[in-house]
Amino acid sequence: MAVSTLASRVRGRFPIFERLVYINSCSQGALSDAVRAAYDAYLRDWDEQGAPWEYWVERTESARSAFAALVNAEPAEIAVTTSLSAGVASLASGLRYAGRSKIVLTDLEFPTVGQIWHAQESRGARVVHVPVAGDGTIPLEHFDRAIDEETAIVSITHVSYRTGAMIDVEGVVELAHRRGALVLLDAYQSVGSMPVDVKELDVDFLAAGTLKYLLASAGLAFFYCRGELFEKARPTATGWFADEDIFAMDIHDYSPAPTARRFQSGTPPVPAIYAGIAGIELMQEIGIAETRRHVLELNERLISGVDDLGGTVVTPREPERHGALICIRSSDVNALVAALDERGIVTSERDGNLRVSAHAYNTVEDVDAVLDALQANRGLLA
Ligand SMILES: Cc1ncc(COP(=O)(O)O)c(C=O)c1O
Repeated sequence: MAVSTLASRVRGRFPIFERLVYINSCSQGALSDAVRAAYDAYLRDWDEQGAPWEYWVERTESARSAFAALVNAEPAEIAVTTSLSAGVASLASGLRYAGRSKIVLTDLEFPTVGQIWHAQESRGARVVHVPVAGDGTIPLEHFDRAIDEETAIVSITHVSYRTGAMIDVEGVVELAHRRGALVLLDAYQSVGSMPVDVKELDVDFLAAGTLKYLLASAGLAFFYCRGELFEKARPTATGWFADEDIFAMDIHDYSPAPTARRFQSGTPPVPAIYAGIAGIELMQEIGIAETRRHVLELNERLISGVDDLGGTVVTPREPERHGALICIRSSDVNALVAALDERGIVTSERDGNLRVSAHAYNTVEDVDAVLDALQANRGLLA
């Protein structure tokens, strides 16, 4: 499908484009008519039915199934959580560090992931960081040096929120598994913007949320645990929705669910679940594989435009080495984000880089608007 066809087919469903050039889906996806309607439906159901608990539990199960289908997992392999952090923290709390005590993570992890793993130091874990090479990527040799027979888990991020670089997941998994270590993938910056298949990637755990390329809101995320590994972790960060029988209301013991539900906690985020299901369904309808092709074409145009302006693209330029996010170096990134904002272009910044992240709804004209604004502010490129 040609670039303009996909965007023109879906753009009308996102009212923000009547006012702004929104090209910041690495922070949050644009609000669609479908997600707005889902919130209206939540309020209507609440109002009309009082506390429709059974229906809300059913909605949670629908979210579980939707997440499972999204990443090619079984529903039993999915925990419905309120954030990526909640799922990862639950896993970390349930691993034992007495045998294999080493946790290997990259220097490209989102802060929450680094913080959760370092918190395990008080439980006997040792945390080792895998450094980034000069070109902003992490070569497999760096993992080869860090992962050994004492490694319990390797924690990697699919697409870096800081650089847009995409990691060689299969390469890391192969290395880790050969040495008996498990792999956790943070897929928050990839899920929804490209096909993500847990079987193909062969990861043991995966966490992501709905806020960005799944087009929904804050408050809903999921955690995948490979079926054979349910018993591997006995979370101590837990709650009644992680219990084997939620409505047994038993306060006398801890018996976690025999499935990935053991990584849940308290009451599910019902409003965000309505929105999340709508966002996932909308992305499935739009087509995630088509979106990936579409965004790669837009990114090629953006990268060559920045080259023509003499700017520096921090993100690796090969399509198989980056996600939707493209990072551009700036001498004063806050001023650059503000200058784009003045022209009605919404972007964001991290680490001194401008972040431009296109999605299904962005057009060639959006990219050209960014490039025109960069040309007008060439002095802020570095
Ligand atoms: C790669 C990545 N991981 C994790 C998070 C945070 O997830 P949560 O706030 O749901 O724990 C983000 C959010 O920006 C992210 O980009």
